[in-house]
Amino acid sequence: MISRTTIDQVYESARLEEVIGEYVTLKKSGANFKGLSPFTQERTPSFMVSPAKQIWKDFSSGKGGNVIAFLMEHEHFTYPEAIRYLAKKYNIEIEETEETAEEKQIKDTKESMFLVAQYAASFFEENLWETSAGKSIGCSYFKERGFTDETIKKFALGYSPDTGDALSKKAQKEGYNLDFLEKTGLVIVNENRQIDRFRARVIFPIRSMSGRVQGFGGRILSQNTKIAKYLNSPESDIYHKSKVLYGIYESKQAISKNDLCYLVEGYTDVIQMHQSGITNIVSSSGTALTIDQIRMISRLTSNIVVLFDGDAAGVRASLRGIDLILEQGMNVKVCSFPAGEDPDSFAKSHTTAEISDFLTQQSKDFIQFKASLLHEDGNNDPIKKAETIRDIVESISKVPDVIKQEIYIQSCAEIMEISEDALFSALAQINQKNKSKGAKKLIYNQGQTPVKKAAATVSKVDRVYELEKQIIAILLTYGNLEFDFEDNIIKPNEEGELIQHTKRMSAKVYEKIFLDLQQDEVELSQETFKKLFYQLIEIYQSAPEDLNLEKIMQTDDISQNEIITDLVMKEEQHQLHDWEKRNIFVKNKGTEVVRMVSETILSMRRYLIDQKIVELQLNTKEQGENQETLQEIISWQQLKKVVSNKLNRVL
Ligand code: CTP
Ligand code: MN
Repeated sequence: MISRTTIDQVYESARLEEVIGEYVTLKKSGANFKGLSPFTQERTPSFMVSPAKQIWKDFSSGKGGNVIAFLMEHEHFTYPEAIRYLAKKYNIEIEETEETAEEKQIKDTKESMFLVAQYAASFFEENLWETSAGKSIGCSYFKERGFTDETIKKFALGYSPDTGDALSKKAQKEGYNLDFLEKTGLVIVNENRQIDRFRARVIFPIRSMSGRVQGFGGRILSQNTKIAKYLNSPESDIYHKSKVLYGIYESKQAISKNDLCYLVEGYTDVIQMHQSGITNIVSSSGTALTIDQIRMISRLTSNIVVLFDGDAAGVRASLRGIDLILEQGMNVKVCSFPAGEDPDSFAKSHTTAEISDFLTQQSKDFIQFKASLLHEDGNNDPIKKAETIRDIVESISKVPDVIKQEIYIQSCAEIMEISEDALFSALAQINQKNKSKGAKKLIYNQGQTPVKKAAATVSKVDRVYELEKQIIAILLTYGNLEFDFEDNIIKPNEEGELIQHTKRMSAKVYEKIFLDLQQDEVELSQETFKKLFYQLIEIYQSAPEDLNLEKIMQTDDISQNEIITDLVMKEEQHQLHDWEKRNIFVKNKGTEVVRMVSETILSMRRYLIDQKIVELQLNTKEQGENQETLQEIISWQQLKKVVSNKLNRVL
């Protein structure tokens, strides 16, 4: 682990504008800098950097945070990777905290394996460019495939000599331990012989998201069909086939910028497409996509287009694997190439414009595509038809979003010329079948959150998120200001009618919010908000002058930091539009804040009352009506009316 001292040092030394300046052209704009968003394709700058606050905000994508968040978003570094990157940039020596001997051993082993892999990659590269065999065999092979020097260098392609132990010898001579050469699979150790795994092959190094070499693919050059065309590194501590995506390092930025990832089968498909300017593309290396690979992509985008070779009888075989992508909540399209073409050959023989037109025009929504395929297959055979219905509904059932499911049912019914009812009832059957699995999930969920959560619809969840965010925003900006608030106490009178007593009192904003929430026994439901809430209340209570956002943001909690930035930078945004400055209507800040606080708390209250009512109604549905519950529902409804009235008055 990196020590806290080192982390603090990194935060102190790193200049946000310097770090970002390496990726984005920044222009001075008032107290801030602005530039074009590196996360979207935009023409008017909406990306802002505040050197004073050491935070950035990208108004076009909504992202924002401090220097670490920028590196994590832009370079897709993990938190420690970002710290290490900055430490290196600012010449800060990294101090590691104590690790157990075992932890250290594991880490050291992995670290050494990475070093060996990196060494081997350089060795292969050097061999390609600088030895006569490399030049005459390796380079000419790549040239024949149409790769330019630039492309070959971009992917750090290489060549392994056919000597048998060239790498093994050279690496050990330079001090690399045979043990690690063996562990990475680069050298095969037999009793008294050491043989390089990759011999007389062109080499494709496989890099992790952050650019470290994990393993290799090596392709034979001859047409010898007896040996496997590609040889890959074996599984090891640093290379897990199911967790690598070829091209992820080279493509990650384009994937997140285009909010779209193309998926192909082979190494050369990725490379050729890159050379043609399609740079948001990765390969699963010839195997079906795994969950881990999908998760990697989903860090960058939720849109995926699977590209199929033209002659692929494999299209039908691959369909099932795609359900896995749907299950992860991703949007999937498929695109088949013309007969006899794969992405590699197609890219080679078409212009960039032709390729991107083709991809846009031919990408079809996966479920609709599958529906038409199945429709063609089984149109005239009733038994087959029943099967195809189940098949398509199986895919639809994997889509986690129920609204999307319904839309799919409608469109598939049309494509397959069957009634929506038939599809809906098939879906119900499948859901029933999956219920044992599903039921477990529900119980588990209920253990974590009360029933009312389950009843909440999507839009309600968003609503509470917004309200909680608003509470934090108010705390951050106005927490320590004092105003006159109306305090409302709602109590039943003797007849059981709800009566509202109002009294005015002076309080600090943070006190008012804290007490009101406490009175309602409300805890913020979003973990990040909750944490931040208590942190802020504590600061205001003990030493409000210490409120230092930069300091609060020095954690690995990126979502928290994004929220803070979001809230703080709202104000700065006005600087982007000068016209807004001229027109700005400065309201009486005091009344404005009081209104905002009351509105937020009342809305929160009304929301919670709503939830309570839904929960009770649900109970009556399950357990039958009983007088007591009905009475309770009525009194909650009364309370809601009071709160709503009050809210209308505030608004
Ligand atoms: N593959 C593999 N081992 C094999 C064959 C294929 O690991 N024996 C993987 C490779 O990652 C390869 C991908 O599957 O890139 C797709 O296979 P294929 O279409 O045969 O390879 P291409 O990339 O088309 O190879 P090339 O164009 O070089 O023949
Ligand atoms: Mn090919």
